[in-house]
Amino acid sequence: MRKVILTYGTFDLFHVGHLNLLERLKALGDYLVVGVSTDEFNAGKGKQTIVPFEDRLRIVQAIRCVDLAIPEQSWAQKVEDIRRYDVSVFGMGADWKGKFDELEQYCEVVYLPRTEGISSTSLKGLLRVLDKTHVDELKQALGIISAIVERFD
Ligand code: CTP
Repeated sequence: MRKVILTYGTFDLFHVGHLNLLERLKALGDYLVVGVSTDEFNAGKGKQTIVPFEDRLRIVQAIRCVDLAIPEQSWAQKVEDIRRYDVSVFGMGADWKGKFDELEQYCEVVYLPRTEGISSTSLKGLLRVLDKTHVDELKQALGIISAIVERFD
């Protein structure tokens, strides 16, 4: 009988921390189901992504260790999904430690270590910094160009 693993996440700007977690989860069983948070569900949590839901879903579905990517639309669907997919293990990264212990009445619940030093939030921060550097460089270039143009006035 196949052993089904279930997890949920937003997976914005898909990165190696996401990949590590999904691969570690898959290693716990045979069939990995991943719930990808919809934009509406995220909006309810005050979270906004850079990559829209449809693209995040396609990216997660294309990851080799993922067998099925489904939309995550509510907090309440976890119990339904555990039943629907006959889930043996529910797993999340350690940032969620203790938050889903009530699901232990339906299946095993595990929290796996996060990959250090990377997150969607830190990548967004990095993009902002890079963007600011770019703007500063453009300003500098404009300054040089306008100085040259003024010499021809
Ligand atoms: N995750 C992980 N290691 C990381 C980042 C995320 O193991 N470095 C795990 C999370 O613990 C979660 C799953 O990946 O179980 C999906 O997390 P998600 O919130 O989409 O990713 P984050 O990069 O943590 O996003 P944010 O910064 O918006 O919280």
